Amino acid sequence: MCGIIGYIGSKEAVPILLDGLKKLEYRGYDSAGIAVLKDSKIQIKKCKGKIVKLENLLEKATPKGNIGLGHTRWATHGKPNNLNAHPHNGCNSEVVVVHNGIIENYMPLRERLISEGHNFISETDTEVLPHLIESNYQNDLTLAVKKSIKEIEGSYAIGVISTHDPEKLVVSRCGSPLIIGIGEGEMFLASDIPALLSYTNRVIFLEEREIATITKDGAEIINSEGKILQKEVVNIDWDEEMTEKSGYKHFMLKEIFQETMVIRNNLEGRINLSTKALELDNLSLPLDKITEIERISILACGSSYYTALAGKYIFEELTGIPIEVDYSSEFRYRKILLGKKDLTILISQSGETADTIAALRACREAGSYILALTNVRGSTISREADSVMYIKAGPEIGVATTKAFICQLMCLYILSLYFAQVREALDSSEINKIISELIKIPQMVEIILLREPEIIKLSEEFLSFHNFLYLGRGINYPIALEGALKLKEISYIHAEGYPAGEMKHGPIALLDKTFPTVVIAPRDRVYTKVINNIKEVKARDTLVLAIATEGDKEIINIVDRVFYIPKTSDILYPILSVIPLQLFAYHIADRLGCDVDKPRNLAKSVTVE
Ligand code: AGP
Repeated sequence: MCGIIGYIGSKEAVPILLDGLKKLEYRGYDSAGIAVLKDSKIQIKKCKGKIVKLENLLEKATPKGNIGLGHTRWATHGKPNNLNAHPHNGCNSEVVVVHNGIIENYMPLRERLISEGHNFISETDTEVLPHLIESNYQNDLTLAVKKSIKEIEGSYAIGVISTHDPEKLVVSRCGSPLIIGIGEGEMFLASDIPALLSYTNRVIFLEEREIATITKDGAEIINSEGKILQKEVVNIDWDEEMTEKSGYKHFMLKEIFQETMVIRNNLEGRINLSTKALELDNLSLPLDKITEIERISILACGSSYYTALAGKYIFEELTGIPIEVDYSSEFRYRKILLGKKDLTILISQSGETADTIAALRACREAGSYILALTNVRGSTISREADSVMYIKAGPEIGVATTKAFICQLMCLYILSLYFAQVREALDSSEINKIISELIKIPQMVEIILLREPEIIKLSEEFLSFHNFLYLGRGINYPIALEGALKLKEISYIHAEGYPAGEMKHGPIALLDKTFPTVVIAPRDRVYTKVINNIKEVKARDTLVLAIATEGDKEIINIVDRVFYIPKTSDILYPILSVIPLQLFAYHIADRLGCDVDKPRNLAKSVTVE
């Protein structure tokens, strides 16, 4: 997903733009560029490849100026190359644009502009923007942008500078996030909060189809009808240090080792650790949305979908409410059968996943009440949901989610317990028993993390394989899916997650000594069944690594390798069993020399369909 940076003030723009682009690198990109305006001239420097290549290009001749735009491009239309990199200018360098999103009607617009004499040099959809703004410009850049965005269909976050208005940045968004940072005598623009934290904690979240005209002294924001808006200034309670690696080799490893802390963050203010009472009054979820609902739908993408799947087991077990789970990208194109008696829970770390935003809007139209579980304040999903439960993971920079996954599970446990209490689905002693186990989880996670050397050794034994099968039963089946996703998305090794009981219906045909199997086999109520599955797998000569409960002496005689996790109640094993799988994937990928924090082809948040 592309990243946008903008600056206007009294400092040289280039160092600030480069610093911001580096903070957005985690979003995934294949080219980068900047544009700086000075003395009614705009200089553009851009290239395919990483930001370090752009820096080398700039070393030769660094453009001077106090207003500029920067961009990291994740190719959608047009291959990664110098010409397709952003920023893009029109027929001359009077109007320059950076863009995140997809302009779906760019071809007819391009043809019309060409017929009006405009020349195009790139293959991108974005390039229609500067030409469109040029053609709509009549002495007011903001109006030209306002007119132009009315002509485009699709998603966009855009930054515009022009020699016609050299003291202004004009920005707008629809479907892709844009945040304005407020400084002293200077202003900033970014696609994401971490890029601003070196300069300010005071931000304004631009909302759909709003247009901001930014000078060094402030921003004037209008809606699509031109009405001036009074926007809330939000103080972000993250600091810059939180977005640094703090001595870890990768953000992903740092974020795994933050899991004890973020689990505690989620218990704080929600469970009274001494009385073990639930305290969720600030959830702003109307009581009737808990007592009267007859069904809950949980929608998400990727790893968040796997937490949704685990949520099904958790909610049904603790509350007795039927739960439907679906991929946002599938749900949004199905017949929507929700209504006022429904509660929809949307799970999204970034709060900007395009498919989940679309699913939210479809659910709202159908009349369902919407509760969002998200990590980012001010994100689109947090602003459009009826209620929000923040997962309190802090900034997650690694593209492969780890601590946010754990926090999403924590929120689902706490929410289910709250629903069970309000609906009296469980009596207080049952609720108290689970809470007593839940508040022990942080120290259990610490025990697991201390065993990292065992995982490092296992990763060295398994890193030469090219295929893996991950198996889990019941509530651990979603964890098998997540373990497989972690491995494939950062090491590029093929890995497939499967319900252990389903393995005989096909995948077992794949197994031999070149195809190891990872099995989540805690001592829970389906343990015996899983042991049977392991024996079936072992009969095919495959190497088996089991995630098992401490003290389980039986399993060590059946499998080849065991990683032990502390004993807890059946329903809580997912939080513990996913951590060794995160570390296993990390250390294999690291040993293979993969770009662990920025895996190829991936973005931290998929803001395009
Ligand atoms: C997980 O490691 C991936 N980064 C990806 O599957 C991610 O979970 C998915 O894109 C959903 O993102 P969201 O939680 O921000 O909506």
